[in-house]
Amino acid sequence: MDVITREILFNRVRSWVLEAGALIRKKMHDPLTIDTKSNPKDLVTEMDREVEFFFASKIKAYYPEHLLLSEEGYGDTLSDVHGTVWVLDPIDGTMNFVHQKQNFAISLGIYYEGIGEIGLIYDVMRNNLYSAMRNNGAYKNDRQLKKLNKDLQLNHSIICLNHHWLAKNSLVDERVMQQLIKDVRGTRTYGSAALEFAYVAEGAADAYITMRLEPWDIAAGRIIVREVGAMITNIYGEEVGMLERSSILTCNPTIHKTLIKDYICKAKK
Ligand code: IPD
Ligand code: CA
Ligand code: CA
Ligand code: CA
Repeated sequence: MDVITREILFNRVRSWVLEAGALIRKKMHDPLTIDTKSNPKDLVTEMDREVEFFFASKIKAYYPEHLLLSEEGYGDTLSDVHGTVWVLDPIDGTMNFVHQKQNFAISLGIYYEGIGEIGLIYDVMRNNLYSAMRNNGAYKNDRQLKKLNKDLQLNHSIICLNHHWLAKNSLVDERVMQQLIKDVRGTRTYGSAALEFAYVAEGAADAYITMRLEPWDIAAGRIIVREVGAMITNIYGEEVGMLERSSILTCNPTIHKTLIKDYICKAKK
């Protein structure tokens, strides 16, 4: 994608993301229909659908040749990564949206021929927009985010992970992960993958480790964290494709190896 096309696209998409966020804020206290999907904890609301429909309609009107990969059913079925593909999570952190009315984000990545070009994560209630264009730095609102500190030690790190890692489970030995909790400075669980990527990008967290994400959870975050020099792989250090459902480890590059070798691989069942 050439730089001028990308810049025009970025400005337009940025204004759509802000518009969708304003729509969510305006309707935040209206009565809400909440449905469940694959299980009783897997929530979806009419707002998730409305935001996705908003983007699907805009894309169809302005860029009919582009494709949309998204969570709630208004997207296209993709068989390969060719062309320009928008990867959208209309509300990432639906459970937070329902229960807390905060701590959720709109997450949108735009890929061209499989390469992430534009990433936007909008923390709607705090009105913080994290954004990046490939090779052009990452931003929080108008402030460019710094490259990550190269001297970080694990015992000075804050790690985002959820409590499934620490309870008995079929994938990992929870005792090894409990040791990790003891070895780091602190742990956090935010309930929105997109926000956890954003916090790694701004250095508010040093790693985010998660067992399974969908492409729309990863798409924007990947583009943004790369711009500050963070690693993003699966939990065994391998590349993750744009259309893949995968575990994810994104972190400061200095602790990537130790997290995999000394903890995740040792914990693997
Ligand atoms: C979920 C959130 C959550 C993560 C789940 C995702 P959703 O996305 O990002 O933090 O642990 O794996 O599915 O369903 O709220 O868009
Ligand atoms: Ca969901
Ligand atoms: Ca999500
Ligand atoms: Ca979602």
